[in-house]
Amino acid sequence: MEAIVFEEFGGPEVLHLTEAPEPHPGPGQVRLKVAAAGVNALDYKTRRGWMEAFMPTKLPSIPGREVAGTVDEVGEGVTAFAVGDEVVGWSTTGGYAQYALAETVAPKPAGLAWETAVALPVAGETSQRVLDLLELANGETLLVNGGAGAVGSIAVQLAVASGATVVATASEANHDYLRALGAIPVVYGEGLVERVRAVAPQGIDAVFDVAGKGALPDSIELRGGTTDRIVTIADQAAADMGVTFSGGGVSSTAEALTRQVRLAADGTLRVEVAKVFPLAEAARAQALSEEGHARGKLVLKP
Ligand SMILES: NC(=O)c1ccc[n+]([C@@H]2O[C@H](COP(=O)([O-])OP(=O)(O)OC[C@H]3O[C@@H](n4cnc5c(N)ncnc54)[C@H](OP(=O)(O)O)[C@@H]3O)[C@@H](O)[C@H]2O)c1
Repeated sequence: MEAIVFEEFGGPEVLHLTEAPEPHPGPGQVRLKVAAAGVNALDYKTRRGWMEAFMPTKLPSIPGREVAGTVDEVGEGVTAFAVGDEVVGWSTTGGYAQYALAETVAPKPAGLAWETAVALPVAGETSQRVLDLLELANGETLLVNGGAGAVGSIAVQLAVASGATVVATASEANHDYLRALGAIPVVYGEGLVERVRAVAPQGIDAVFDVAGKGALPDSIELRGGTTDRIVTIADQAAADMGVTFSGGGVSSTAEALTRQVRLAADGTLRVEVAKVFPLAEAARAQALSEEGHARGKLVLKP
């Protein structure tokens, strides 16, 4: 099969399209003919070798945790899915390929585009995991640092739906988008504390730091000097400041993913697809991901 592979750590140029052995499902797994693969920031961090201390990579490696596609082989013991089913979920073998194995998948509603469905596994699981950690209550005010990206946009909507007032940071160009998602937008960077206080004089009850771009000191100040109810998913300085870092690697359950996929299909959850690339252009997609300003999801299509 065709797949994007890297044999060494480095820049986008280490990614290349090549022939790789086709995977076949073991017990509890399905094989998908991939229709869309999600591009995550984790993919370029892994490719650069930055994740080796936490999640060692076996080289050569096919990147990509998120896949959507049609089941074409079913492993022993799988009863919930059959050949021909359209599903979305978490790949165990790498999504940047013509075929991928998966264990946790949800049915993809017929009306939902492949590229939209594939935006949900990582962003949906991460958002829900962190909002659960923050124990956000109805009527509280949440600050989301980095609200316009793939994860932030889902986190904003889930928090708004739970009854929270959400203040979210983004560059000016994304402020109308954040308003449409139900958030009060503010620009990130110097002066953040004052800008947030101006729009949320009631105070900030919890902070979800999605972007990991140095906003933790301001977040602590906005929380009145405590690190309580601040969670980051991307700032490596968290431990030094006593802030909770929530790591990934825990796949969402099929039930949680199924719920979120349905919300996207019925339009309750808005899922923005920033750009779709052919599989062969994975390096370009990851380079754009690495720039860190995509509004919504970057997707590859084999
Ligand atoms: N630990 C975990 O479980 C986990 C899971 C998923 C993702 N992550 C991490 O979370 C981060 C975000 O992922 P993503 O997929 O949402 O990325 P993304 O789609 O690339 O979004 C990045 C967003 O960050 C915003 N941004 C850029 N510079 C910023 C700054 N200085 N302050 C605040 N926001 C800024 C951008 O907004 P503008 O375009 O408006 O500048 C953009 O919308 C990545 O580092 C990723 O590795 C961690």
